[in-house]
Amino acid sequence: MPTSTQSVREIIATHPSAAKIFQRFDIDLCSQADETLDRACAELQLSVDQVLEKLADAETQELGGPPVDPASLSIDRLIQQIVRVHHQYVRQELPRLAEMAQKLAAKRSDRAPELKNVEELLEELRTDMFAHIQKEEQVLFPFMSQMDHDSIIVYPPAHTCFRSVAQPVSKMMQEHESANHIVAELRRITLGFQPPAWACATHIALFAGLSEFEADLKQHVHLENDVLFPRAIELEAELNSRG
Ligand SMILES: [Fe+2]
Ligand SMILES: [Fe+2]
Repeated sequence: MPTSTQSVREIIATHPSAAKIFQRFDIDLCSQADETLDRACAELQLSVDQVLEKLADAETQELGGPPVDPASLSIDRLIQQIVRVHHQYVRQELPRLAEMAQKLAAKRSDRAPELKNVEELLEELRTDMFAHIQKEEQVLFPFMSQMDHDSIIVYPPAHTCFRSVAQPVSKMMQEHESANHIVAELRRITLGFQPPAWACATHIALFAGLSEFEADLKQHVHLENDVLFPRAIELEAELNSRG
């Protein structure tokens, strides 16, 4: 657990979720990095106990509850979980990471020119992924969900613009591939998200955030490509065979 006598930098280096909490309290990751948490909080008239409590909460959340087997969920519940956990995460994290990358590229790209590329790649990822999750939420997921609920009533619904769920699924899988490709490129140019020895706290927090994003994307894509999409295709085939 972090303590109030540790510096902001030390806490971020050992607790990746801390940067988000500090940013929420307006603790400056650059100018206050070498201050103890006590001092940083005093300067902003914050209660250090409250900040420590939020840090502890974030750590507990990171450990998570007992894992739920996605195969045991209905298509509808699976969709709800993907949207609530992973789409929500994309919406929160990509703007935060892009903003940090922008600041860092402006300040430090003379020493680390790859930060310019990090900034550009994150912008591309944000545009692509925001459009991607919107398509899933507005077109594909409602279609799948309807198929799940109304499986005995009418299928396929008249208002969709595709004949088979396999069409949008294949498009979404291509988009997953390109998101994975951008993240792999981010990993490559940052040498595995390793900040240099001289990195400031924002730099450390950005790279920790990127590494966390990579892990979340892996899980998000796995749930869609390997669990949800095959289930929907299977259900469609079953419905079609009923005539
Ligand atoms: Fe998704
Ligand atoms: Fe997706």
